[in-house]
Amino acid sequence: MDNQEIIEYNEYLFPTYNRFPIVLDHGKGVYLYDTDNNEYIDFMGGIAVNSLGYGDEGLIKTVTDQVSNLQHISNLYYSKPLKEAAETLSKATGFDEVFFTNSGAEANECALKLARRHQIQNKSKDATKIISMNGSFHGRTYATLTTTGQPEYQKDFGPMLPDVEYVDFNDINQLKEKLGDGSDVAAVILEPIRGEGGVIPADKDYLKEVRELCNKTNTLLIFDEVQCGAGRTGEFLACDLYQVKPDIVTMAKGIGSGFPVGACLANKEIGDTLSAGTHGTTYGGNPLATAVVNYVVARLSNPELLNQVKENGSYFKEELNKLKEKYPELIKDVRGEGLILGIELTQAPGEVINKNLENGLLTISAANNTIRFVPPLIITKEEIKKGIDILDKSLATI
Ligand SMILES: Cc1ncc(COP(=O)(O)O)c(C=O)c1O
Repeated sequence: MDNQEIIEYNEYLFPTYNRFPIVLDHGKGVYLYDTDNNEYIDFMGGIAVNSLGYGDEGLIKTVTDQVSNLQHISNLYYSKPLKEAAETLSKATGFDEVFFTNSGAEANECALKLARRHQIQNKSKDATKIISMNGSFHGRTYATLTTTGQPEYQKDFGPMLPDVEYVDFNDINQLKEKLGDGSDVAAVILEPIRGEGGVIPADKDYLKEVRELCNKTNTLLIFDEVQCGAGRTGEFLACDLYQVKPDIVTMAKGIGSGFPVGACLANKEIGDTLSAGTHGTTYGGNPLATAVVNYVVARLSNPELLNQVKENGSYFKEELNKLKEKYPELIKDVRGEGLILGIELTQAPGEVINKNLENGLLTISAANNTIRFVPPLIITKEEIKKGIDILDKSLATI
């Protein structure tokens, strides 16, 4: 794109994003094509969204069948897709009940409201505090922006939601101290594998200890699996890697594979706190969205696909480790599980990401020092190798 084209594309938009200078037109599998038909291999999957890649035939059929039949009816009526998606998601996660939303932020809003209401009604009227993690990311609405422990995102948007406090991720002593006897705390919220904040997995013992502390202090534990869930780690829920169950889990991104959806899940005892009229959404759970969720979740919870994610994720990580050996002055660390991986660089990631784009590979940053890899979950070893070779070529020119 030349400068004039960029100005034209931006003309009627809030300047919220610095977009890369390409106009994407269509996709197939893990490949995207721009309006000049240049091919890009996609290692970022629409930011961990396009779990089934582009042009999945079953997804196209699901959407077209459902849109020709019934798209939206409001939450005042039942629909079959709603029933089916709720059941499929409940079986895939092991949680009894779900509230469908349109995005990850809304799923987290629901989780935070649910946690406070449940604790105010069942623990104490003072149990309203939410403990979140420094460096986390939970969304851009006020409650989720507040729980997002990154002051630069909150700057000039204050005041934030009251009664939210922060501790360092993977530091159990800080959490223990902040919780105290837990009498004024509603919930702890964290991402089992931090995505936007640098691809940082929770330590195994840490999550277990967080669970124990929450149990001891009657504090609800919320896992934000908006990015790391939906099969991305090779388990349907990332917390299953850790064998730690939260009280509330949120999902979005991958469960829609490009369709805007989210979900907040809990067991009945907690979920039933949101009795009729206490929470709502116009679009959440509409027949079109839930037909998609039902199809996508059935695909993503298939053990064959999950095993493939695990195997291909290990291969991807091995290849990244080889690059770390080859470029020790550039790559400091390789992190992640399954197909949520990252390389921490010794410099800001922008230069490598721009080179990747020029060379036909789409990648994305995380924090201010990491390149994140969250490709479609259907990616094959050959496609991973192809992208790795491009990354190698980019790193060689830095
Ligand atoms: C962990 C996590 N939570 C919440 C969100 C917010 O989701 P959405 O952008 O769909 O509102 C994101 C988005 O990147 C995320 O990564």
